[in-house]
Amino acid sequence: MSELAARKDLLDIEDLGLDEIEYVLDNAVPFKDLFQRSVKKVPTLRGKSVLSLFYEPSTRTSSSFEVAAMRLSADVTHFSVSTSSMVKGESLLDTIETLQAMRSDYIVIRHQAAGVPGIVARNTGASVVNAGDGYHAHPTQALLDAFTLREVFPDLEGRRVVIVGDVLHSRVARSVSTLFRKLGIEVAVLGPGSLIPRGRHGFMTRLSDWEETFDWKPDAIYLLRVQLERQEGQFFPGIAEYHRMYGVNSDRLQRIRRLGAWLMHPGPVNRGVEITDEAMQYEKSLVNAQVENGIAVRMAVLHWLKPENAKE
Ligand code: CP
Repeated sequence: MSELAARKDLLDIEDLGLDEIEYVLDNAVPFKDLFQRSVKKVPTLRGKSVLSLFYEPSTRTSSSFEVAAMRLSADVTHFSVSTSSMVKGESLLDTIETLQAMRSDYIVIRHQAAGVPGIVARNTGASVVNAGDGYHAHPTQALLDAFTLREVFPDLEGRRVVIVGDVLHSRVARSVSTLFRKLGIEVAVLGPGSLIPRGRHGFMTRLSDWEETFDWKPDAIYLLRVQLERQEGQFFPGIAEYHRMYGVNSDRLQRIRRLGAWLMHPGPVNRGVEITDEAMQYEKSLVNAQVENGIAVRMAVLHWLKPENAKE
């Protein structure tokens, strides 16, 4: 494995240099190779502890980090928020102090408020990995997506990806677009005007409908989940209307197939909203590969980060 100075935390793709991004993506390859072996564990983090703190629901990210940590031989503890003292009014800083006393080496945290992983990182010697904070960032999702795309396009420079849907409420879109841009990928967005933010996505091409999207000739189409739970107002007339305007239906699937474009989605998928059951079976869907690659990429991230209190 190649060597690069370790970093304590992974909070946001914005913080990473290209050398660091490539380091993680390159080092995920041998970890993925491990999955083909009968023994899938390596002793890299033997004796280390990983605390998994999910203040929001998660299937893919939480289980993927757990498998990644276990395959690195670390001990994993889940901190269940619904049964924690936070529901009794304990402050975040008091909770962090309690967790610090447990001397965890790594803390993987998802929180509904942007910036919480950063606060935890500044108040603990443990390495903190942001597993998604509010609308802000989801860096390991972006890294696993880049890894997945690199498996089908070894040279990502100049490739085109269109992100479709609720960009406004999506930490995935923010991290993915930032990372893809750093890797030289051209990024466009397609979605309801009310769900495309002004300003911070200025580097992306704005497409107005599927016709324009097909003309743009994307190499991959990245569908976002419609996050109804994060929308405080009425951003589009309804789910049926969203599906009619932006969903991948049978006709659009045929166009995508003719174009030869790959299909991506971070999950969880709202079937019948972003994509139909039929389109889920598309032969160039990368959705399952994204999940599998999540483990290898998170192994590479945990392997790279170095807790402040770690001694050689
Ligand atoms: N992609 C993603 O973050 O999925 P989960 O919410 O299931 O972790």
